[in-house]
Amino acid sequence: MAGEKVDLTGAKETMLMTLYGKALESRLPDSLLGDHFADEAVRKIAYDFARLKVDDNLGVGLAIRAKTLDLRVEDFLARNPDAMVLHLGCGLDTRIFRIDPPPGVDWFDVDYPEVIELRRKLYPSRDRYHLVASSVTEPAWLADVPRNRPTVVVAEGLTPYLPADQGPRLFARLVSHLASGELMFDAYSGFGLKLLRLNPSVKATGAEVHWAIEDPHELERAIPKLLFVEEIPAYKPEHAIRMRWSARLFIRLWRHIPALRKVGRLLRYRF
Ligand SMILES: C[S@@+](CC[C@H](N)C(=O)[O-])C[C@H]1O[C@@H](n2cnc3c(N)ncnc32)[C@H](O)[C@@H]1O
Repeated sequence: MAGEKVDLTGAKETMLMTLYGKALESRLPDSLLGDHFADEAVRKIAYDFARLKVDDNLGVGLAIRAKTLDLRVEDFLARNPDAMVLHLGCGLDTRIFRIDPPPGVDWFDVDYPEVIELRRKLYPSRDRYHLVASSVTEPAWLADVPRNRPTVVVAEGLTPYLPADQGPRLFARLVSHLASGELMFDAYSGFGLKLLRLNPSVKATGAEVHWAIEDPHELERAIPKLLFVEEIPAYKPEHAIRMRWSARLFIRLWRHIPALRKVGRLLRYRF
């Protein structure tokens, strides 16, 4: 197999699942995300993507989640053209290229060193684009991040992999370092984590999941500077229509039954 060899396991390997899902979705004629950067990256990587058991249906779900977050980040940047973006657990996600932020924005993609090394090989550099090779839970990397700029912090597919005691500490550190901004991420209940453990793609990587968030206000109580703004409705019916019937049924139930919504949802906070 030609291309960049990838030998990652566990949480780091899960980024290949999300990358491949977005690449598959970009090949659909009615693609929502149009992530041709992801598709190009997949073609440059020497890895047996079939072992992750990602299908179009998962790809559509991942693309909807990514698009929903892209729109929120774009909205923040439209209101704050001098902003910073902290993209935590970026994996090989191509959000910076999809969004193509205005020239006044500084963008930080943060992930483990092996992941960042691979990003450097696969994607071009650009002005004001900073790659941070560190665990997000390691306090030192934040020292190089300016404090006084409005900042949107986005984490997609990261929180379940963080140790339960480390997640709140990370968010507390971020909001005490940064003057103001927004924080948005996907969160999973304890039942949601159980479902993730059964997910064939996650299982194939051997990744362990730990941090469950049952109530968005938990974080407000733990970190007083954080204000819960909203649970972002991720699956609009017009987007979900491209998913298989069982997924559409789940989404319909999910929209109306709060206990099911907690399984996996997008949360947005202000600080
Ligand atoms: C499911 S992937 C999501 C990748 C990307 N956000 C996306 O949506 O395609 C999870 C990512 O979180 C990263 N990750 C997990 N724990 C981390 C940590 N403590 N520090 C930095 N990155 C972490 C993994 O390396 C991986 O890239």
